Amino acid sequence: MNKLIVSLLLTLGITGVAHAAGDATAGQAKAAVCGACHGPDGNSPAPNFPKLAGQGERYLTKQMQDIKSGKRTVLEMTGLLTNLNDQDLADIAAYFASQKGSVGAADPKLVARGEKLFRGGDLNKGLPACTGCHSPTGAGNAAAGFPHLGGQHAQYIAKQLTDFRKEEAGRANDGDAMTMRTIARKLSDEDIAAVSSYIQGLH
Ligand code: HEC
Ligand code: HEC
Repeated sequence: MNKLIVSLLLTLGITGVAHAAGDATAGQAKAAVCGACHGPDGNSPAPNFPKLAGQGERYLTKQMQDIKSGKRTVLEMTGLLTNLNDQDLADIAAYFASQKGSVGAADPKLVARGEKLFRGGDLNKGLPACTGCHSPTGAGNAAAGFPHLGGQHAQYIAKQLTDFRKEEAGRANDGDAMTMRTIARKLSDEDIAAVSSYIQGLH
């Protein structure tokens, strides 16, 4: 029953996302409060705050909807989205999507393992290559809602993969197909450290 309602809400949410067109100029003003953590242009300076610059519009809107509804828990953002309507969220998404994302550096000691996982997956574990959805450059697929990963802070990426891997209390907003939860469960701590570092330097 619960699951049915959740999937119904998800369907409605995604339909809404597909229809609202964002205005980046209006979004810049509405995103002023977000800059304190995410950086004024979406290039957050702190490794635990995700960069939003250059992220796909559809993915950004979905995450904001999920955070607002409580489907994805972000304590730091408690109350911040409450008074924003669908148009506000679409405008903010358009603004951050229009900004250029910065790139970090990978740890040279972790590059080989990270690259192998990202580009080839692991056949023995039935782990697909990340490139299949997140693209070889890490740019993702904006139209499909597959997030841009390239250049993102390694610490943030590692936390997401660890959260997807958790059974209950983690990040569980990847849909009924549980795509990322299924993938993350096949990753060891060492895999996560390597692939996250590789992603930070990827562009
Ligand atoms: C006090 C700090 C803080 C403020 C202010 C803040 N955020 Fe966040 N935001 C976070 C943190 C921390 C996360 C990641 C949480 C986690 O680890 O999952 C996040 C995650 C996100 C994500 C998901 C990114 C992704 O790659 O999945 C979006 C989108 C987002 N915030 C948008 C906003 C918007 C829009 C505002 C302003 C209305 C805002 N945030 C204000 C701290 C903040
Ligand atoms: C079949 C497609 C698919 C494959 C393969 C895939 N992903 Fe994902 N990934 C997704 C989707 C879809 C999301 C967004 C889920 C959501 O809506 O929260 C996502 C989200 C993520 C996020 C969260 C991004 C953020 O900004 O919070 C990370 C990190 C991630 N994937 C890493 C990986 C890694 C590493 C691999 C390879 C080991 C991988 N993914 C393989 C589809 C995929």
